Amino acid sequence: MSTMRGKWGTSAETTSGAVGKPLSRVDGTLKVRGEAAFTAEYSFERVTFAALVYSTIAKGTIAHIEQGAASAAPGVLAIVTHENAPPMKAPPAFGTPDAGGGAAASTLPVMQGDEIFWNGQPLAVVVAATQEQAEYAASLVTVAYRPEPAAVSFDALKGTATAPSDVLGEPAEVTIGDAEAGLREAAFTVDRVYRTPRYNHNAIEPHATTASWGDDGVLTVYDSTQSLSWVRNTIAAVFALAPEQVRVLAPFVGGAFGGKGMLWNHTLLCAAAAKIVRRPVKLVLSREGVFRAVGGRTLSEQRVALGATADGTLRALMHSGTTAVVAHNHFPEQFSFPARHLYAAPSIAVAQQTVNLDMVANTAMRAPGESIGTFALESAIDELAHALGMDPIELRRRNEPAKDPTKGTPFSSRHLLEAYRRGAERFGWADRAAAPRARRDGKWLIGQGVATAYYPYIRQPGAARVRISADGTAVVQTTAHEMGMGTATGQIQHAADRLGLSPDQVAFEYGDSNLPLSATAGGSAQSVSIIAAVAAAVEQLHESLLELVGADSPLADADYRQIEARADGLFRADAPGQGETYAAILRRAGREYIEAEADAPPPSELTEYSMHSYGAQFCEVRVHEETGEVRVSRWLGSFDCGRILNPQTAASQFRGGIVMGIGMALTEETLFDERSGRIVNPSLAEYHVPVHLDIPPIDIIHTDIPDEQAPLGVHGVGEIGITGAAAALANAIFNATGKRIRDLPITLDKLL
Ligand code: MOS
Repeated sequence: MSTMRGKWGTSAETTSGAVGKPLSRVDGTLKVRGEAAFTAEYSFERVTFAALVYSTIAKGTIAHIEQGAASAAPGVLAIVTHENAPPMKAPPAFGTPDAGGGAAASTLPVMQGDEIFWNGQPLAVVVAATQEQAEYAASLVTVAYRPEPAAVSFDALKGTATAPSDVLGEPAEVTIGDAEAGLREAAFTVDRVYRTPRYNHNAIEPHATTASWGDDGVLTVYDSTQSLSWVRNTIAAVFALAPEQVRVLAPFVGGAFGGKGMLWNHTLLCAAAAKIVRRPVKLVLSREGVFRAVGGRTLSEQRVALGATADGTLRALMHSGTTAVVAHNHFPEQFSFPARHLYAAPSIAVAQQTVNLDMVANTAMRAPGESIGTFALESAIDELAHALGMDPIELRRRNEPAKDPTKGTPFSSRHLLEAYRRGAERFGWADRAAAPRARRDGKWLIGQGVATAYYPYIRQPGAARVRISADGTAVVQTTAHEMGMGTATGQIQHAADRLGLSPDQVAFEYGDSNLPLSATAGGSAQSVSIIAAVAAAVEQLHESLLELVGADSPLADADYRQIEARADGLFRADAPGQGETYAAILRRAGREYIEAEADAPPPSELTEYSMHSYGAQFCEVRVHEETGEVRVSRWLGSFDCGRILNPQTAASQFRGGIVMGIGMALTEETLFDERSGRIVNPSLAEYHVPVHLDIPPIDIIHTDIPDEQAPLGVHGVGEIGITGAAAALANAIFNATGKRIRDLPITLDKLL
């Protein structure tokens, strides 16, 4: 394992070699035994159970909530509505720095008035002695409404769309040169509209909260969240508590994909109900409840226009479009981000607009923006390649930028073409027939497609504490989230190397807001963000250890920069035999342990460099000529995501993303009734996620080239897998059938 230098270089860089090894998940045994408990499996004494009643209209006011039958139902302890809910302040929105970071998906106050903002809004909480009693009683609650006209039709309202103030902190519009002129003058052009529908996350664990108000004034909440610290801050702000009076725990989260990144009504309503019944309350959303009360990915309509010379050189690149949002959130879905960084073009115009609808707040869903943005952009690139009669990989090679095309900054690490080269070789791309409908197997048309995967490098602030005990073992502590990605495993590998220990000497404690605060597990940023904090804490720890050694120690007059951590302790780099184990240092000093807590330094690397992850998605499909059935027969993902912390867990992340991309391309779609604003397929029976038979073996390779500007050279790997996937599939379907489908999902009817 090489040593990272530069700003991340310290004397004691990783030497024991755990990083980069395909270690199995440290919690794998717990998982397969069913012993890794999710939120709903934690309980408190005298716990009660809650069920929600949801609005069936999209806009209006509540005239009356009839509770008589429900109140009389067996086991019912309380019914909470806007008439008796405790006062709750408007929750600080996700991404706002007040109170150290808010988490709310919407700034609407929860259950504080009779107004209705979306079809599915929770209007009542029924608390009972058992889950079944709560659900039965909730079914007896009836609501009389005063409906008002609702803004629910995207097609009717998209003409009123406006540019948001920003898109995830970036300008909504970026213009370089005159792209319309570039397009007019280009010999070859593509100018198309692509549409993507609404999607919902369907994590294996539906959202759940268990809340208990302690006699000590502390509110303890188990919550299925990927934002422990921000959820804590938000709950505290809503109930006017100090953050220390709220403790949020989530030892294991059963998948999230962004759906648990923000705080939704049920979490606050659970705590409110617990306040009313003066007992702990458990609120587990049904699968339908997740669709009603938790938002998903917004729909989009995107225009991509490309102009090129006959040799494939881009003259103009335009990517614009509209998404639907709500008036009380700020999540435009950054579909235009890939177009800002992927291709060299003398004129570029990207622009995003949003239109407000009356619907559940839209939110982040795995690679929000980049997933659907790459569908449009990478489909258009394929269309241009076809128009030019050029191999689509060659077209990309000819437009590979030397520096960031919209920011002008150098790339920190960009090996996209290498990912393509290696992917093409392994996939056998050279054998592909360029002409559509050229290969078949009986009634099955066979096609191959390719597309670029793209996701930004993000790093968030956060702290970590590292403790070494006299027995030579170490513990790393930080709020962090294990949603199935291998968080603890990867962090143990990193800490072991940095401390010169073996992984089995290192424990990782996380999932509790009482630990040093890290940020959300979002933006594929958790691993590298925590690595930066741990690196800072270990640096402090090593400095403290050097202050602790006695005059007779071989490290006595060693400078911090002269030591390295290995073989369970610290050794002089210039005299490798001279050093001491941690155990020896601590024992001699009479200390049981030594610890250090540190904040990660701010992500200054992002101001100097354009930092992103890349990949090349290769897909082979078989499309039945008579039925339009699509079977994905082969897949290869070739990724460039910096140093790979753990190739086994990383491959699972890439594969999971690709599986989700296949669902996005072929079967998934949230059906939103544009008359009522109601989601009409809120179940796994009617919202079709891919199942095992839909997915071929997925081959994963990666460049594994460290990014010298990133802590440990690592990039995130959680989201990039879904990007480019739908385009690769659509491009393969075009290659198989000659049909270009620009509306997702690509269902059978569109191919007949
Ligand atoms: Mo991800 S959509 O940032 O959890």
